[in-house]
Amino acid sequence: MDVLINLFVASHIIGVAALLGGWLTQLKSLSTGDVRIAPSMVHGALVMLVTGFILVGLNEADDVELNQTKISVKSLILIAILVAVFIKRKEERIPKPYFAAIGLLTMANVVIATTWT
Ligand code: HEM
Repeated sequence: MDVLINLFVASHIIGVAALLGGWLTQLKSLSTGDVRIAPSMVHGALVMLVTGFILVGLNEADDVELNQTKISVKSLILIAILVAVFIKRKEERIPKPYFAAIGLLTMANVVIATTWT
């Protein structure tokens, strides 16, 4: 079970790499406002959600006690990110504050995931 959980944690991290990577690579264009939702951002957010729920299930099956409050906060933030990237995924340019918020929320979730014990 540990190997399986570790593999899903790895997929979970690859998901955030895709989401945040698509955002970070456009950071330089934020000053001109020439930013859009990269496909990797939508796919990364979806991977995060799916692997996150699988990790909850695997940990519960393994009798590992998870911090449910932390999981709920991460889920709410991720659902907001997922909705935000999904509805604007076809637009060629999106408003700067909208784009900035997606990256800031993602980074907030990384901080929550790594510092909240
Ligand atoms: C953008 C959103 C998210 C980010 C950046 C994120 C990040 C992470 C990171 C870095 C880890 C490894 C931490 C460690 O092993 O100490 C992790 C583990 C985990 N994540 Fe997420 N996560 C996100 C969303 C979610 C969601 C939505 C769920 C559940 C529905 C979830 C469930 C879990 C579980 C169960 C683990 C393993 C147990 C734990 O360490 O708490 N994650 N996440």
